[in-house]
Amino acid sequence: MYSRLLLSAAIAFAAATGISLSAAAQGSDSRAAADEILLAQAMRYDPMRPAMPSPGAAPRPEGNPEFDGLIDGPGAEETFYMCSACHSIALVKQQRLSDARWDYLWKWMIEEQGMADGGEELRETILNYLKEHYSSQR
Ligand code: HEC
Repeated sequence: MYSRLLLSAAIAFAAATGISLSAAAQGSDSRAAADEILLAQAMRYDPMRPAMPSPGAAPRPEGNPEFDGLIDGPGAEETFYMCSACHSIALVKQQRLSDARWDYLWKWMIEEQGMADGGEELRETILNYLKEHYSSQR
């Protein structure tokens, strides 16, 4: 849903500024990644900018009270136990980060903050969960 919003916003932006995005708008799957970059550039997208909810966007779901309000989904439980060891889950929930930023933070938490390295499988589970639900990209 967010990507559709992003697309219509980009098209509106392009219409207003005269940038041709027709190729991007009709992009085939194989060109999807390149198109995304094009769209992002056209919108001056900055992954480090705090995400602002767009006015028409549906509010984020309440989340599971058992996991301190983390949105339900595969990986929610693992994320809760791993990440609440040192700080509030609120610190996680308030984020909208790019995939690259989540990857970086995982490493940072282990190397700089002493988070246990739970192995590749746990890493994938939790990072996939965070990227799915607490992302600035989707
Ligand atoms: C070993 C302790 C520890 C664990 C476990 C831990 N963190 Fe952290 N985390 C920290 C510390 C310390 C900070 C810095 C807090 C501060 O800024 O005061 C932090 C900060 C953060 C921030 C804010 C970063 C920023 O740029 O401001 C996020 C997001 C975060 N953690 C996510 C997570 C997630 C997701 C997990 C679980 C995968 C996790 N943390 C597990 C110690 C931990």
